[in-house]
Formats: sequence, C-alpha cells, structure tokens
Amino acid sequence: MKEKLQKIREEAMKQIQDSEALEKLNEIRINYLGKKGELTTVLKSMKDVAPEDRPKVGQMVNETRQAIESFLEETRKKLAAKAREDQLAKEVIDVTLPAKKSNVGHRHPNTIALEEVERIFIGMGYEVVEGPEVEYDEYNFEKLNIPANHPAKDEQDTFYINNEIVLRTQTSPVQVRVMEQGKLPIRMIAPGRVFRSDEVDATHSPSFHQIEGLVIDKNITFADLKGTLAEFAKQMFGENTKVKFRPHHFPFTEPSAEVDVTCFKCGGSGCRFCKGSGWIEILGCGMVHPHVLEMCGIDPDEYSGFAFGVGLERIALLKYEIDDMRLLYENDIRFLKQF
Ligand code: DAH
Repeated sequence: MKEKLQKIREEAMKQIQDSEALEKLNEIRINYLGKKGELTTVLKSMKDVAPEDRPKVGQMVNETRQAIESFLEETRKKLAAKAREDQLAKEVIDVTLPAKKSNVGHRHPNTIALEEVERIFIGMGYEVVEGPEVEYDEYNFEKLNIPANHPAKDEQDTFYINNEIVLRTQTSPVQVRVMEQGKLPIRMIAPGRVFRSDEVDATHSPSFHQIEGLVIDKNITFADLKGTLAEFAKQMFGENTKVKFRPHHFPFTEPSAEVDVTCFKCGGSGCRFCKGSGWIEILGCGMVHPHVLEMCGIDPDEYSGFAFGVGLERIALLKYEIDDMRLLYENDIRFLKQF
C-alpha cells in the first residue's frame, strides 16, 4: 500500500510539474482526486486493510492528497500568472503610434455642381422641386407637345416600362406636374436623374442628370430668359462669361434656342477645350409653347413663361475640366477627392 501511494504521488507530481496549461491541471485533479480518481480508489479499498493498519494508511492517504493538492494550487497560481503575463505582452498598446485614420468620403462633382446651380437660382427666388423618375408617357411626351409618332420621341431612346409608363428621358415632365398644380406664378428648378437607352462612352451614359427650369408669370418675355441665363452663366463660370443664343427646335418651346457660353479656358479666342470655336454649348431653352400651357390648364393669353434644361454632368465636366464622363460614375475616391 505504501509503495502504491508513493507511486501515485510521484506520478501526479510529475504530471503537474509537466503541465503547461490550466486546463491540464484540472484534468490531473479529476484523475487523482476526483470521485473516480486514483487516490479515491485507494481510499475505497481501505476495507481490505487490516484494522490496526488503517489509521496509518489513512494518514498516508491524507498526506498524499494534501501534497498533490498544494502542488496543484501552487502550479495553478504560477500558470495563471504566466497566462496573464503572456496576455499583457501580446495585447500591448503603443500609445505613441499614430491613430487609425477613419476614411471620410468626398462630395461628388455632380453634387458640388448641383449645389452651386441651386444656390444661384435660389438666390434669384426659385424653388427647388422634384418629380418621379418613373413617369407617365403622357407627362414625359404628350403634354410636352410630343405626340405619338413624333420624331422627337425617337431622338430620346426611351426605356419603356409598359405602353403608358417610361423611365423619364428628361426632367421636362416636372414642368407639366408643377403647372398642373395651378399655383401661379411659378419659378422653379427641378434637378433629377433621367434615363436613355444609350451605350456608355466618354460623353454618354444610360442614366444621367438634368436640371429643369420653369418660370410662368404675366408678361414674361424672351428678354427675361436671356437675362436669367446670362446671370446664371456669369455666376457659374465666371464674371466675364458671355452667352449666345442659337435658334433651335424643341417641341415644348416656341421660340427655342440652344445656349453657348464663352469658353472659360481661353475666354473665347479658341482652344483645344472648345474645339477652336471659343464657345461651349451648355443648355436648351425657350418660351413655353402656348399649347403646352393650355394642356396644363394655364391661359396663354394671360400668362407666358420660359423654360430651360441643363445637363448636370455637362456642367460638372466643364467646370472641373474632366474629359471622360465615365469617371463620374466610378466613384473612385482618389478621383472624387480632387474637387
Ligand atoms: N428636355 C430637353 C432635352 O432633354 C432639354 C430642354 C430644352 C429643356 C429646352 C427645356 C427647354 O426646358 O426649354 O433635350
């Protein structure tokens, strides 16, 4: 019995000595001191020991148990301390390191240009309104004087949802929506996304943005249109910018014009940027067609007005001298950060 206890003690001590993790110590505790542990088994076999030897053997068992227990505890403390030290070493924080940068995005050139346009027109007393991107054919075409089979319908390759509903090809339908509300006078701009079934290239995208403008009041003339757009061009592109109105045709305005501004790169003398002409086209405009006013419930004998439509990307590309529209849609932060 004595040798047996001696052996158990030596084995246990060695295992404790060798253990490197706290979990291992627990295992050892269970194996030796647990309900089915080796020492417990010895205790259970006391009945086989001669009664006169029992106190002695009992004492030996207790000593063995105490020895194992105290060595377990001692080792547990050591291992716990070491684990803590390792953890502290591993999780060391160098407070002198530079802080992690949180990446902030950047406003898109379209957004910057739009806010500039809005600022200018709000300054002239305009309201900023919005209309739906999914629009009735009736608003996108019919009430803008573009009936079925009109060639203008083909000019704007349209995405049809069904026979009556389209993805708007222009922001002009917002004119109709605002006029139909019947609150006069009107002075509004309507920025928004428009869609055309175009292939992507340096100057085209199936989805881009326009800013519509509409003024309806008594005695509005072409002179008001000219003055307004000249003021806009100056504020947008620089005090020395001049505007030129070229006759054009839009179904919903009469007369209609396209507007060019003097090239802000060369000031009008001609350069690569304006392809030598000194002028850059920026928008379409005109006096609202009397028939459009009528269709929208406004009496053309009492009221008149003008409208214009600007391509937002066009303005952003010009203002920031970006030569490929696709750059505007990639949203590469390295590109966006330049503006
Ligand atoms: N909606 C026209 C287009 O997308 C642009 C335009 C031209 C709008 C003349 C107007 C306007 O309001 O008067 O090509």
